[in-house]
Amino acid sequence: MRSLATLLLAVLLCASRPAAAPQQQPQTPPPGSTFRSATALVEVDVIVKDKDGRFIKNKLVGFAVMEKRAGWGADYVPEYRNGEWEYQAFTTDRKANDKANLFACFACHKPLDKQDFVFSYDKLKAAK
Ligand code: HEC
Repeated sequence: MRSLATLLLAVLLCASRPAAAPQQQPQTPPPGSTFRSATALVEVDVIVKDKDGRFIKNKLVGFAVMEKRAGWGADYVPEYRNGEWEYQAFTTDRKANDKANLFACFACHKPLDKQDFVFSYDKLKAAK
């Protein structure tokens, strides 16, 4: 299993973004009361330090995308299935990142089943 390294990467992916940067908030098409079809994107950053050890800037390391369409997800076993969502990681040159462990995405978003597997559910519902 390559899970630990990949999981750490995934934590960086999703958790190290500063909450306040508006351009890094998830984006979707305007959702209705439920997301029948939606795409959410997060920019994946790592914070870097300058030579004096001060935090300076975020460094974009990739993109994480989840997309939902009617009928998707049917091939997954129940332990992994996230409704009709699919996940994909992309590198900074916008190619699919074949090193990403996509099962980690399913596993980490899975407990959010009460809010359609989306962490920022309330924010996304409020977005117009
Ligand atoms: C270790 C747990 C974890 C893993 C693994 C993980 N995520 Fe997330 N993901 C989160 C958390 C927590 C948030 C909310 C982050 C925030 O609001 O700053 C999130 C947010 C997102 C969002 C924005 C929509 C939302 O749910 O708020 C997308 C898109 C996303 N993740 C895609 C992915 C993809 C693709 C992968 C796999 C490559 C992945 N995630 C793996 C925990 C995880």
